[in-house]
Amino acid sequence: MIDLRSDTVTQPTQNMRQAMAVAEVGDDVYGEDPTVRRLEELAAQLTGKEAALFVPSGTMANQIALGTLAQAGDEVIIGTGSHCYLYEGGAGAALNGLQFQVIGSNGKFTADDVRAAYRPDNHHQSPTTVVAFENTHNRGGGWVWDLNELQDATTAARECGMRLHLDGARIFNAQVASNIPVKTWAEPFDTVTFCLSKGLGAPAGSVICGDQGRIHRAHRLRKMFGGAMRQIGILAAAGLYALEHHVERLAEDHANAKLLAQMLADIPGIILEPATVETNIIWFNLTADVLDATALAKAAQERGVFLSASGKRSLRAVTHLNITQDDCLAAARILGEILIS
Ligand SMILES: Cc1ncc(COP(=O)(O)O)c(C=O)c1O
Repeated sequence: MIDLRSDTVTQPTQNMRQAMAVAEVGDDVYGEDPTVRRLEELAAQLTGKEAALFVPSGTMANQIALGTLAQAGDEVIIGTGSHCYLYEGGAGAALNGLQFQVIGSNGKFTADDVRAAYRPDNHHQSPTTVVAFENTHNRGGGWVWDLNELQDATTAARECGMRLHLDGARIFNAQVASNIPVKTWAEPFDTVTFCLSKGLGAPAGSVICGDQGRIHRAHRLRKMFGGAMRQIGILAAAGLYALEHHVERLAEDHANAKLLAQMLADIPGIILEPATVETNIIWFNLTADVLDATALAKAAQERGVFLSASGKRSLRAVTHLNITQDDCLAAARILGEILIS
């Protein structure tokens, strides 16, 4: 089975499982889990923030972060296709009482887009108080922000008096692809979240980073969201192991994704520009004269290749810890055989 649906499907390695087995634990709701403390300290250090909080998932991390930045009734400015508003079950509206104003295209937006979207104080309108970024951008194709463009857009937001959130679920992919440290990417933001259970290969967990006051508030929100857990040093140990051993290897996933993208682009029926693949995520489309995305995903699955279909003609393939170069070669061959037959 070659599972390219997502980088969330990874299996913990034997060494990671060993680190989990021997982890020192305590009741984290009492603040007594030493392994969780170590993970939170490392996360704060890597992002250059004062403090951090371990939470069960990326969705909870984003929604708690937004909850510390905005009040119910506020508006969050966000790029198209961003996870925080499109793929979190409506939590922004249902749990935080937020509305979103979507700007730009393919997840990207500019300083001018931010200025144009900002609404000055007016009692008829929802106050725009937060701008949320995503780096790398999942739905946009795993692209990495240009640092200058990101800094221009965050500066524009600050000039309007807005606060800033970074959904950095895959911020370590951005670090490896750009050679720019996570700390630099995180610098303009009030809150930064990242996931341990995607490219980094841990079984669960995300971290919210920010200043002491915001992380104090995040503790309360985590309790309200039902995300306070007990002896979770077992999970934090996997996260620590991932941060210590699985960051540099993301370069392999990026190289595999580029190779796969080049091979897919050569298959008749596939529309894909390989140069757009910057990290581990490939989105591609199908021409109108071949089978549709669901049918291709089904035919591929029958031959052991798992892809995510989205809409009629769009599919996603993601490389990760459990995908080798040979897997990519085999997957491209199988997709070629299906589409050419
Ligand atoms: C960019 C981004 N942010 C947040 C999340 C949410 O993570 P989780 O599935 O752990 O809730 C995802 C998950 O795929 C994601 O791609």
